[in-house]
Amino acid sequence: MSGKVLFVCLGNICRSPLAEGIFAHLVRERGLEGKYLADSAGTGNWHVGQPPDRRSIAVAKKRGVELPSLCRQVRKADFLDFDWIMAMDKSNQGDLQAMCPPAQRGKIKLMRDFEPAADQGADVPDPYYGGPYEFDSVYEMLLRCCTRLLETLETTIPGGDAATA
Ligand code: 4NP
Repeated sequence: MSGKVLFVCLGNICRSPLAEGIFAHLVRERGLEGKYLADSAGTGNWHVGQPPDRRSIAVAKKRGVELPSLCRQVRKADFLDFDWIMAMDKSNQGDLQAMCPPAQRGKIKLMRDFEPAADQGADVPDPYYGGPYEFDSVYEMLLRCCTRLLETLETTIPGGDAATA
């Protein structure tokens, strides 16, 4: 098991690029670059090639977190290429499970199952139709999830290079 993590939501412009940026930021803060590789993708294809939603970019920038990735859709190869596939909500999780080879289904996890004190099976709510409050709230939620996820991976994964593992 190594540290390649794919964050997945519906549009890949609000939640999953935020999760990717936050996770990569935490990895850098802890000096763990090289051990982890973060990426994000959407189950839908409406925004392929576009940067993240400007509200996600703004809420991250306020905390010194960059969101460099462009939108892409989930592809079959992702189930082999990544070790951890983090669905933002149960609908994303169901879509991923439907397209995932059975042998890889164990890689698919629900993001908020890593949030301390959250109910099992809770969703990261989609802020797309919300305002700044919803984006702030999703940022803080994703920070809690990413922090616990990285702590969990650190207890699971021996030292090594995610790019070559
Ligand atoms: P996301 O939010 O899944 O968090 O990126 C959405 C962004 C766009 C759309 C849906 C959800 N859309 O339908 O365009």
